[in-house]
Amino acid sequence: MDILNYEELKKADSSGMLAALERLPVQCGSACRDLAGSIVLPDIQAVSNIVITGLGGSAIGGDLLRVYTADKIPVPVTVNRDYTLPGFVGPDTLVLAVSYSGNTEETLSAYEEARRRGASIVAITTGGRLGELAREHGFPVIGVPAGIMPRSAIGYLFIPALMILHRLGLLSDPAGDIMRMAGHIEEVRERLGPAIPEEKNLAKQIALKLYNKIPVIWGAAGATEAVAQRWKGQINENAKAPAYWNVFPELNHNEIVGFQFPAEILKKIHVIMLRDGQDHPRVQKRIEITKRIISGAVDGYTEVWATGDNLLARLFSLIYTGDYASLYLAALYGADPGPVRVIDYLKKELRDS
Ligand code: F6R
Repeated sequence: MDILNYEELKKADSSGMLAALERLPVQCGSACRDLAGSIVLPDIQAVSNIVITGLGGSAIGGDLLRVYTADKIPVPVTVNRDYTLPGFVGPDTLVLAVSYSGNTEETLSAYEEARRRGASIVAITTGGRLGELAREHGFPVIGVPAGIMPRSAIGYLFIPALMILHRLGLLSDPAGDIMRMAGHIEEVRERLGPAIPEEKNLAKQIALKLYNKIPVIWGAAGATEAVAQRWKGQINENAKAPAYWNVFPELNHNEIVGFQFPAEILKKIHVIMLRDGQDHPRVQKRIEITKRIISGAVDGYTEVWATGDNLLARLFSLIYTGDYASLYLAALYGADPGPVRVIDYLKKELRDS
């Protein structure tokens, strides 16, 4: 019997997280066609660096932008998750202020600072205070459809950023890659969706492995590192469970030493290794050696391989797998995946103080 059956999953999912996830390929396609087409860019002269400022579900697209463009554009991309901005931000900086709600205080503060420093700003938001301020100040606002959780809007929040870089002449047209990625994850959905039983469904198998364990997610610097962070966040917010992430090769220089004590707790760790055939050959070698080092100490490890014919497709194939796994894990814990009451409470307490 399939313990993660569709009807049960839907019943516990008050915010329609599963439905939103099923629509991700459509979301990515429409973000590429509709949102990007409507962008009216300011007269930006010379951009020598790009900063994406945002938090949580609104920031992860910044990491994807950073890793995807690293070898494709001539300027650095920095992700900023703070109230303040790095000292280099100035009139030659393009700041993408991303907030799904438009009301995240750190993002509003960084937006104000970007404006004071004379940066070119584009806001990506459903509206809120950020939308109001950017319109008032004459900055372009890329409107994102409301009604889903910020973390479910990854396509709406990330893809316009790619199109902006293209429109500024910094990146060759990414539309082909984006549409191929959307087509690819549609195929991935056929294998991971809730109708597919556990025996054939990698995402359900992963959820079962992570159930009652501490997930540790490892990616590789430069590409899957952004996915590792996404998996961690999705497990936290959807399954209401802890998760930790790190990257090769850095983790080989510290974290790997920490698999001796406390032995009993280490047995509760399940490691997910995000694999991409394009990772540096020495990183692939490192992963093989690392498996031998940790295997006796932890509950186990699972390798999840990227699929797809371009970097974007490979990254999103892993993201989609992790997103589904986090929803199935939520179901195993009996958690409603949508609401994030702790974050809401924290934001409210901060607003009131
Ligand atoms: C909720 C979520 C959070 C928010 C974060 C910032 O689904 O993913 O991580 O994204 O609290 O809020 P926004 O995105 O509204 O700026």
